[in-house]
Amino acid sequence: AMPDDTASRLLAWYDLHHRELPWRVSPREHARGVRPDPYRIWLSEVMLQQTTVEAVKAYFRAFVEKWPDVEALAAAPTEDVMKAWAGLGYYSRARNLKACADLVAARGGRFPDTEAGLRDLPGIGAYTSAAITAIAFDRPAAVVDGNVERVISRLFSITTPLSEAKAGIRAHVEAMVPAARPGDFAQAMMDLGATICTPRRPRCMLCPLREDCSAVVSGDPENFPVRLPK
Ligand code: ADE
Repeated sequence: AMPDDTASRLLAWYDLHHRELPWRVSPREHARGVRPDPYRIWLSEVMLQQTTVEAVKAYFRAFVEKWPDVEALAAAPTEDVMKAWAGLGYYSRARNLKACADLVAARGGRFPDTEAGLRDLPGIGAYTSAAITAIAFDRPAAVVDGNVERVISRLFSITTPLSEAKAGIRAHVEAMVPAARPGDFAQAMMDLGATICTPRRPRCMLCPLREDCSAVVSGDPENFPVRLPK
């Protein structure tokens, strides 16, 4: 079993090494009581569904400058939203974005603060509803993307092919989510996967979870996650 302080170690690392992202409330601001804007978290997570962080930054900044809140986005002509989205690809995301903005604006501009409530909205699936719940509302939720799957596969040396390991990975994440700072924990897992526990040549020497990681002790972390041969 994972030591209880895995999450604490990860959060201590995140306090020092988190990425500065335009939609992110830094851990220092967060500790001072600054709360993330659910609109900005929702917008960023929808943009990040199939697009890299680097590519999303400029689009995110342009969107919030043009439409600073969900009411503004709801009031915009669909055509303008599609134009601003041009280049991000997967245009059904933009259509769902607009439909979602219309629905949230119609309920007073407040996003639902539960995974189930969020999942009822257009363009919000399991991953995005968990991410918004954790990051925007600081409520415990298991946020599992490809980065997190890799981190967990390595921590536990999961030898089952990834396609069959998803439920087990989710259970590991659920068991690790701390009661305090679940939003920072979710973001810390993503940052760890993006900057340390990378697909190739992971930087294990710099990893705050090195001592907890069975892949680093017993073998080659690059071999995880295990994929079925094509
Ligand atoms: N990828 C998707 N969501 C992210 C987030 N909130 N922070 C960093 N990377 C992400």
